[in-house]
Amino acid sequence: MSSSITWNFSNLEQARAGDRLGLTAADLEAALPRARSAHEDLESRRVAGRLPFYELPYRGQVIGEIRAYVDEVRGRFSDIVVLGIGGSSLGPAALYTALGRSADQSLSAPRLHFPDNVDPFEFDALLGSLELEKTLFNVITKSGGTPETLVQYLIVKERLQHKLKDRYRENLVFTTDPAKGLLRELAQAENIRAFDIDSGVGGRFSVLTPVGLLPAALTGIDVEALCTGAGQADQDSSVAEILDNPAYRFALSLILLRDLKGAGTVVMMPYCNRLLGLADWFRQLWAESLGKRYNLEGREIFWGQTPEKALGATDQHSMVQLYMEGPFDKVICFLEVEDHGVDVIIPRLYPDRSALDFWGGRTLGQVLTAEKHATEEALRQAGRANLTALFPRVDAFTVGHFMMTCEIATVFAGSFLGIDALDQPGVELGKVLTKKELEKP
Ligand code: PA5
Repeated sequence: MSSSITWNFSNLEQARAGDRLGLTAADLEAALPRARSAHEDLESRRVAGRLPFYELPYRGQVIGEIRAYVDEVRGRFSDIVVLGIGGSSLGPAALYTALGRSADQSLSAPRLHFPDNVDPFEFDALLGSLELEKTLFNVITKSGGTPETLVQYLIVKERLQHKLKDRYRENLVFTTDPAKGLLRELAQAENIRAFDIDSGVGGRFSVLTPVGLLPAALTGIDVEALCTGAGQADQDSSVAEILDNPAYRFALSLILLRDLKGAGTVVMMPYCNRLLGLADWFRQLWAESLGKRYNLEGREIFWGQTPEKALGATDQHSMVQLYMEGPFDKVICFLEVEDHGVDVIIPRLYPDRSALDFWGGRTLGQVLTAEKHATEEALRQAGRANLTALFPRVDAFTVGHFMMTCEIATVFAGSFLGIDALDQPGVELGKVLTKKELEKP
């Protein structure tokens, strides 16, 4: 069994981070009654079936259906293109970035693409670079009506039909609502293979439905281990004792730093390129779930904490100056990896030059870890709050564990703040106005 992620919150304590941003034991203590109510609220909504994302790690039948499809199409495709946006793209993209390259070392593993945007130059270039007969297009949309996804689908379908005639449907697989929406209608009318996104699970909580699991399984990622890690996170973050519960403590720390200390921004900063997709995915999760004008009572609150991303050590030479000496309005959430799976030894080429010889014999992994520890300590000394999620390694178990912990943290934050974390009313107006804009002569 892989070991889990551990969290280090000690650099958030006032004794370590200083007065400006540090939290005191009294700050946490005062929040506990409300946090306990939030825990009870989550428990009762879960029992009532109103938070179905909690149950996603435990569905062997869905994994079985996905496995059967993967076996059916094995060897047929060199490329898989996910046509989806927002929660219908960020989850599978995060999985592929983190795990895709180590999943299947054989050259036959299909490459995954996430065009995501409707940028004409990029989309045309991507389609032009693919051998259409050997490309599977996984169209993902929960609502079935998202403009970016629909227009990409229309372009792709025309090209597939042109090339493959009636066989076009063999290069399409849909992931959508089990009963509603345009894509479900098309699947039925044209007999196109379709997987279900569970009702009650919105885009940004859907990575453990076929939205994330199907593209992952198609590229050889171990989806069972992903779900086992997520299930472990569910166990770890069901603990009623708020400060011993990693998801609750993570959420509570961010909320209190924002509301008591003015930390309006949380920067997720992995020291590992493979984890940068997780920071992208977290940005949507935290922003879209909690950036809200109204609370559940209908009162205007304009709550939100801006999630940003940075990459260690790259952004030490770009953003860290701001984090160290700019306004006291940020909390940094480091993602550190203990074992990168591979390491590269730095050769000793200049024994007579001490400035170069110093590096010889060490490894890239050691340098990266030293840079993370040094930045963490420098931020602490400058009174800048930071915390760390430590991955023992980057594998399906730890990635599933991390994503589930973040999802639980987000619904907990919604409940604590009295915000509906599952809706996104602010996104709708833009969709309506896009159509109006296109109707203009
Ligand atoms: O989290 C969400 O609900 C959104 O970000 C959606 O995922 C995004 O708008 C795409 O929606 P759909 O899956 O319906 O195409």
